[in-house]
Parts: sequence; C-alpha cells; structure tokens
Amino acid sequence: MPYQQQLAQLQEENVFLRDYLFTHDKAFNELYVPPVQSLARFHWTPVDVARKSADFLAQDKQIKILDIGSGVGKFCLVAGHYYPQVTFYGIEQRKSLVDHAESVKDTLCIENAVFMHGNFTQLNFAHYDHFYFFNSFYENLFGVRKIDDTIDLSSELYSYYARYLYKELDQKPRGTRLVTYHSLEDEIPEDYCLVLSQFDNTLKFWVKQ
Ligand SMILES: C[S@@+](CC[C@H](N)C(=O)[O-])C[C@H]1O[C@@H](n2cnc3c(N)ncnc32)[C@H](O)[C@@H]1O
Repeated sequence: MPYQQQLAQLQEENVFLRDYLFTHDKAFNELYVPPVQSLARFHWTPVDVARKSADFLAQDKQIKILDIGSGVGKFCLVAGHYYPQVTFYGIEQRKSLVDHAESVKDTLCIENAVFMHGNFTQLNFAHYDHFYFFNSFYENLFGVRKIDDTIDLSSELYSYYARYLYKELDQKPRGTRLVTYHSLEDEIPEDYCLVLSQFDNTLKFWVKQ
C-alpha cells in the first residue's frame, strides 16, 4: 500500500479510536491505572454525563469553566475534547489524582484542560464563568465510600465547604451556569433556577437569575 494511503488509513483509525474512547465509559476508564479504575463507579463522572454537562456549560467560545473537585480529570478531559475553544479548569485537593489527570491529558493530547492542585477555597471564583460540581464534599459525610485515607474528613467540613461554595456562587453574575451531579443542593443559592434535569434527576442544569 502506498505511504499516503497508509497514512490516511492510520488517521482514520485514530479518529475512530478517539470517538470510541469519548463515548464508551469502560474504555475511557481503562486509560487509568487499575486502582483508579476501581473508584470510577462512585467517584468519577461517566463520559455521557460529562458530555451533556459540557453541552450546557460551553455556550460561548473563550470562556472558562471550573470543575470543583476534579478528581482524575474525567469531566475536564471529555468536555475539553468536545469543546476545544473553551478552557476547562479542575481544582483537586489530592495531588496523586492531579497526577493521574495530567498523565491521561498527555496521552490524549487535550491542551484546553488545566489541572490545579489545591483546595477550591483558595481560588478566585471571579476568574471562572461557569461551574461543574459532582458532589465533591459528600465524602465528608459519615458512612460514605471514601477515595482514600489521605484527607481529613468530617461533617463539619461538609457544612463549611457547602456554605463556602454557596457564598461564592451567590456572588456570580446573572446568567452563570452550574451543573450538579448527585448534589444534595446545600451549595446552591435560591436564585439559581433549575432548567433541566437528566439521568433520573441526578444531573441538574441551573442558571442564575
Ligand atoms: C466525586 S469526585 C469527582 C471528580 C471529578 N469532578 C469527576 O467528576 O470525575 C470529587 C473530588 O473532589 C475532591 N475534593 C473534595 N473536596 C475538595 C476541596 N475542598 N477542594 C478540592 N478538591 C476537593 C475530592 O478529592 C474528589 O477527588
């Protein structure tokens, strides 16, 4: 087969493989090491949920979207793939998870996903336009599955973080969009209007009035 034809075939296979990865949750999870894969069911956003969320949040080009508690980066990486002109930021308190996110980002060559190590309370929310939140504080509640034992967890911290996020979201301008997945809704100010819910009401789309 001539070189040009081989190249075209390889590119076609590459596109097919990428499409497959971003639409098949099990295949996407296999990009991570086994201990990370085993946490996926309860802790990482499924690819179809990430895509739906991105469709709602990425309404304009050149905007900045923050995943509050980004884990191993699934939301930012999937969203970044579908919306290359939007920048998706993730803040994550566990350094090891940020490292896994960076590693898969390199594998997939997704340049518009930015992963930061730290606590979301250290961020200036004025730098971000819209927000994704997969109940990151839930782990603090008694009897819930934990990711690991490296972080201090308590119901007081749950209340503190939920209240802190509420105040930050409250200060955002009208039109700010928020997606919550499995949220107890303690962090959502009253003027965020629910416009749509999917996946048996676990995924909710909000717009600040
Ligand atoms: C349910 S996981 C969601 C991960 C990712 N957003 C996703 O959807 O795949 C929640 C993550 O939030 C992180 N987290 C919890 N509290 C945090 C805080 N105060 N600051 C930064 N990250 C936090 C946890 O370490 C965990 O990795």
